[in-house]
This record gives sequence, structure tokens and C-alpha cells, in this order.
Amino acid sequence: MITKEENELLTRVGPGTPAGELLRRYWHPVAVAGQLTEASPTHFVRILGEDLVLFKDKSGKVGLIADHCSHRGASLLYGRVEERGIACAYHGWLYDGQGNCLETPAEPADSRFHLTVKHRAYPVRRFLGMYWAYMGPMPAPEIPKYDVWVRRDGYHTLVVHPRIDCNWFQAMENSVDPAHLQILHQELTGRGRTPSSTTRGFTDDIAALDFFTFPHGIIKKRTYKNGIFDEHPLLFPTVLRVNNSTEIRVPIDDEHLMIFEPYFHHSANGEAKDAGEPAVEVVAPYKEPADALHPFTRFIWDRVPAQDTCAWETQGVVADREHERLATSDRGIVLLRELMVQQIARVQAGLDPLGLERDPDHAMIDTRLDQTLELMRQRGAAVQVRAM
Ligand code: FES
Ligand SMILES: [Fe+2]
Repeated sequence: MITKEENELLTRVGPGTPAGELLRRYWHPVAVAGQLTEASPTHFVRILGEDLVLFKDKSGKVGLIADHCSHRGASLLYGRVEERGIACAYHGWLYDGQGNCLETPAEPADSRFHLTVKHRAYPVRRFLGMYWAYMGPMPAPEIPKYDVWVRRDGYHTLVVHPRIDCNWFQAMENSVDPAHLQILHQELTGRGRTPSSTTRGFTDDIAALDFFTFPHGIIKKRTYKNGIFDEHPLLFPTVLRVNNSTEIRVPIDDEHLMIFEPYFHHSANGEAKDAGEPAVEVVAPYKEPADALHPFTRFIWDRVPAQDTCAWETQGVVADREHERLATSDRGIVLLRELMVQQIARVQAGLDPLGLERDPDHAMIDTRLDQTLELMRQRGAAVQVRAM
């Protein structure tokens, strides 16, 4: 267990919070690229507790700026896009993607007042079928070239999960909690087998669980008694590579989370098959009613991510870690919390945190994807054992 203050340190994501400042050192996806169209050129984004509007102007440039207009606060979601940016619907203040105010139409013709206005704006990049935002101090780092994101010997697809109504760190702790796979997911991952005890699930298949840090986060290693092992990296701070995909967890605010999951599908002959943007699948909500919280909703346990979401949300909107009882199988969680505290301290000391890439030409990062692809081949391509 940890103190209330330590829990706040790990979980809070707003501007000025220790974890929020750490998370602002990394790029995060905020929308599927196809969500911005000519017919619908603005898209509301809440990320790290900040309300923003993503827009594409008529020259094709994409910007991400604060939702509330600098004039008197109307939402720019309803702004009109034009060649040079987005004009607030209320009095027409026109902003470009850098947050410069280009016009204030109701002011006298010779007014220079607009030059004094600087609207909050963040850099945006398009990558892997998504728009990504960087909300930290400049210069911005690079989006890391993880193998699963940049490999070309196959093709990519993108899964967008339903909004998760709890704090982001519950999802990340789950990523270093391999013991739950054989219990929580026993009906869905048993591949036709029935466990002799639903309490133990398939726990007795496991010989050892190990955890170690590496230059991009934490690797959890699950060794089975039949000699097979898998290693799934938590790519610090918000990504879990699981099989041939990465779950990218993006904190909306302290109490909500969005998850984008790009997949890499290896082609048997190594042929590059990416053509245009990845195909996108939007997953239906995992609970009914979709907008309610436990206990006023019921989770639908037909998929592994639904079971995980159920575990995370029912821990509480922000899990109470003052009264938990950690055991030996939770040592990955302890390791992650220690890593977070260390990396928060690095940021506070003015240093780059773990895994930040500043060289635009950095080499592809090996997340041990090949090993996982080989394991998937051994198990049969049709079997997707999601080892979250
Ligand atoms: S509130 Fe936006 S221009 Fe007035
Ligand atoms: Fe899981």
C-alpha cells in the first residue's frame, strides 16, 4: 500500500501535477486521422485534463488549440475553418495552428490588438492513422520508432477501444500484473481446456513470472511449465505491447482513459502491404449502460479487454491504494511505481525521462516483437492469447 499523497503523485495528470508533467514529455495519439474531414473539420479532444480542439483548416493544416476562445470563452469546436485557421463562431477571432490570433473582426480596422493575443496550441503529427499531440516544453522529442509501429514487412490496422471510466494508472499497473491472465481470462484464453478449479484458473501452467527494466520500460516475462515463455514490454509510460499490437493508453483526465491499439500483421513472405491509412475498427462499449459507473452498469464479459476494463473500473475511479494488500505476485506493480517516482524526479530535475527519443533518425526500437510473432506462429495464428 502507499499513502494518499503517493497515490495522487502517481495518478493525477492535469497541468502542473508531477505525473502530468512527466506525461507531457511524450507524444500521445488524440484522434483517428479519419475523424477530421471536410464535412467535419473540428474534433473535441480532452487529454491530460485539458480541453482542446483539433481542426483541419482549408489549406489542409491541422492544429490543436485550447477549446475556450481567448476572447470570451466560447468553444472553438464550433469555429469555422478557413484557409488560415479557425475562426471562433461567436465574434470571429481567427487562430492559426500555432495559436496566433490573426484577426479580431469587431475591432477597429487599424487595430493591432490581435498581435497581443496568444492562444494555447500544441504541435500535432499524423502517424499510424492517428493524430498525435505533444504538450510539453519545446523542443518536442520524436515519436519512438517501436518495431510494431514502423515495421514495413506486413501491414497495420487500428483498433479504437471504448472510453474507459477510470484513472490511467490502473491500466498501466495491469500491464505488469501477469498473474491475472490465467485467472481473470480463464474462459477466454484456455483454448478449449477447462480448469480443474475456477479459483486457480490456469495458474498452475506457470513456472515463473519475472520482471526487469530495459531502456524503454519494463519487460514482464511469463515462463510456462512446458518451456514456452512470453515477454511483453510495458513501453514507458503509457504503452503495452501485447502480441502483435500495442495498447496506447491516453489519459483523458484523472477519471477517464482512451485506448488506441495499432496492430502489425506480419506477411509470411515479408512483403510490405501498408496501403494508405490503417483500417480502423471501433469497438462497442464493454458495459451496459455504456456511460454509467459500477455498480450502476454491468460489464459484458465476452472479450478479454472487457474483463480487464471491468477489473480496472471496479477498483474505483481512482483506485484506493491506501488499503490494498500487495503480495509477491504484485512485484511488477511495485517496480512500475518506483520507476514512475524516479522518472518524475528526473523531469523535476530538468532531465529527459526514460525512453525519450530526440534523434529523428534513431534506429527502429526492438520490443522483442519477433519473439512474440514466432510464439504466435507456434500457437497458431488464429489463437490470440492476449497476455495483458
Ligand atoms: S468568444 Fe470567441 S471571438 Fe468572442
Ligand atoms: Fe488482462
